[in-house]
Amino acid sequence: MRVVFLNPCGSLGGAETSLLEILSSLRAASPQWRVQLVLGEDGPFAAEARARGVSVIVEPFPQTLGRLGDSRKHRLATMKNLLLAAGPAFWYRRRLARLLRALHPDVIQTNGFKMHLLGAWSRPASTPLIWHIHDYVSTRRLMSRLLRLVRKACSLAIVNSRSVAADVQTVLPNLKIVPIYNAVDTQRFSPTGATLDLDALAGLPPASGEIVRVGLVGTFARWKGHQVFLEALAQLRVEENIRGYVIGGPIYQTNDSQWSLEELRQQASMLGLQGRVGFTGFQGDIPSAMRSLDIVVHASTEPEPFGMVIIEAMACGKALVASRDGGAAELFIDGQTALGHIPGDASDLAMQIRRMATNAELRANLGVAGRASVEKHFDGRRLASQLLAVFHRVSPAGAIGLSDRAMESWSVRS
Ligand code: GLC
Repeated sequence: MRVVFLNPCGSLGGAETSLLEILSSLRAASPQWRVQLVLGEDGPFAAEARARGVSVIVEPFPQTLGRLGDSRKHRLATMKNLLLAAGPAFWYRRRLARLLRALHPDVIQTNGFKMHLLGAWSRPASTPLIWHIHDYVSTRRLMSRLLRLVRKACSLAIVNSRSVAADVQTVLPNLKIVPIYNAVDTQRFSPTGATLDLDALAGLPPASGEIVRVGLVGTFARWKGHQVFLEALAQLRVEENIRGYVIGGPIYQTNDSQWSLEELRQQASMLGLQGRVGFTGFQGDIPSAMRSLDIVVHASTEPEPFGMVIIEAMACGKALVASRDGGAAELFIDGQTALGHIPGDASDLAMQIRRMATNAELRANLGVAGRASVEKHFDGRRLASQLLAVFHRVSPAGAIGLSDRAMESWSVRS
């Protein structure tokens, strides 16, 4: 079986981390398969995929196409940018079609909306196309329309949660949709291993006495809840000995949808958090960063389609407070494997952080239960078996008659 994956960007966001696990687990489960990755941009993602033995081809996007975001707020600007990108996209599509003919895959799988469209326009007519949809579609009116236009080119859509499945179903009612949860590398993300000196990285003085370290780990996308996290920290009293850390940086090319470091620093100082919160910048070694925290916070203010950070923190055996909405809410059992909070509600978040910060036993218990849940539900072997079933189903090259049951996603609660 020859599989080609298409991904628009070269930085390591959630969809790319998800794809890295797919690549690793496929290589482990079916080493004889030829797996190739085509990227619209060079960057750390290419290096990580190559390190996993995957052959990577960078077919760079023209600038106007790379910068094109699908902003829900600035529809007019998006339309204008779309028009500007239309010509370059047309030429890119021809280059991609030529490349795909040469690679001659049995299956093409696309990540990211731009590649869902480009894949549909450039795939060889007889090659099945799988969309791996990582985000809600119905809130993006323009993208919903475009996807509907090319929907016939797509054999099946994999989605990252039941919540996203329900959403995609409303936009593309006749498309076969298979929810498959992401996986995490449970060896790298494990409770034991190296740690980091977060204070030094953030330029904070060494802590005097016992403190509880609480961190938000993630990209600077505005809906990831940095503001709510900072407001929650400000509601906790100084004598509670809690130090906050913002771990991550602005990694996307499109600027209107992400915070800058300066903006977040300003918010922290306006909230009077000097010395109580540190910004470490982008960290390549997330497992070590997580192990250096006592509590990991996931604070997305909009329904989170999945939330890689949730399964990563649980895999590290960390106490976790997570937003209780969207696909994210499917990944943990509130009170057993993590604590949930109301998305966007700083007071509720502060309350859950305090509950954990003042109870080391609760943190330890949640950490152990979280790790056990990840080992059971979010490891690479489960991911590979579900994916293989999907590939065999869509591709004549692997038509070995697997039943729909093998593709089924199951619930963390089952
Ligand atoms: C997208 C989603 C995020 C998910 C990731 C991997 O980035 O927004 O929720 O964790 O894809 O599926």
